[in-house]
Amino acid sequence: MGIYVWGTGCGASELIGQGLELERIAAFVDSFPGGEAFLSKPVLLPEQLDLGDCELLIVTTRHADAVAARCAQLGVPEEKLLFLKNNYALADRNGRCTAAQALLGEELLQRLLPQQRIVPTPASLAEPMLPERELRNDYVRLATLELLCRRLEGVPGAAAELGVYRGFFARCINELLPERKLYLFDSFAGFAEDANASAAFQAAHANTTAQKVLAIMPHPENVVVKPGFFPDSLRGLEERFCLVSLDVDFARTTLEGLRYFWPRLEKGGYLLLHDWGSPGLPGVAEALRRYEEEIGETIPGVPLCDVGGTLVLCR
Ligand SMILES: C[S@@+](CC[C@H](N)C(=O)[O-])C[C@H]1O[C@@H](n2cnc3c(N)ncnc32)[C@H](O)[C@@H]1O
Repeated sequence: MGIYVWGTGCGASELIGQGLELERIAAFVDSFPGGEAFLSKPVLLPEQLDLGDCELLIVTTRHADAVAARCAQLGVPEEKLLFLKNNYALADRNGRCTAAQALLGEELLQRLLPQQRIVPTPASLAEPMLPERELRNDYVRLATLELLCRRLEGVPGAAAELGVYRGFFARCINELLPERKLYLFDSFAGFAEDANASAAFQAAHANTTAQKVLAIMPHPENVVVKPGFFPDSLRGLEERFCLVSLDVDFARTTLEGLRYFWPRLEKGGYLLLHDWGSPGLPGVAEALRRYEEEIGETIPGVPLCDVGGTLVLCR
């Protein structure tokens, strides 16, 4: 009975460097082995894995999804699977691995667990499939949000999202910044008339309510919903912000959002301008250009390679 390691590349060598003694490894497993042995241990093809002997299979490659699918075909139980690079798999699968703690011990396990963990899906979700789909679609957007939120320590202010729709991204903000007040601005009735949204686009975005959004928030006690068309929905609100997600698709409301939020963003804070790089929504980048003209300066921003082409504006 022993520990098996999937992968014979850098990930596997890091694992040894992090403290798993080579003697404890029964064999390596690799779909494309470079040879019959690695670090003087045998290298098996996945189908050669002896399930009866395998107590724990530590997966060191980045292709966690593909390996998980192959392991499911081979009948490797999830309790025996530990993924060291599961940040590409869009969910922390390691909660299911009960074998790891007993075999590796808590100290080594904590050293090995992936640090860039993706936002977990709260168990309390009312409609689990919908947020799941959203998470799968855009790893870069969500992982960037997680990293930005970690950098906000010491930066005062509330969080906000303008353009909430069904609350999937807002839910992640609320999860990552549980102690912060989170303002959620949305008409919950789609776009203003002058946005000229197509009938289908309008109908799709009107299909939500403030109650449904609140129901999927992990910390609803810190959430303040501001329903109605922005900027009227502000109704004189004076606040300072550390993180703002601006996601309203069209030029006029994006410009109004920049006018309100940018001067109120604390030093060290971030404004995520969603769809800045979306070819189908040119009004977003146009609004930023107009706002920069208004204030007479260029705002430093980092473009993301996420699905919507977010630009992260940094204070
Ligand atoms: C693309 S969706 C937001 C998606 C959401 N941020 C997410 O990632 O899950 C855009 C939202 O902006 C809202 N919206 C657009 N213009 C608005 C305005 N002037 N006032 C309030 N909400 C607006 C729409 O109702 C819609 O729900």
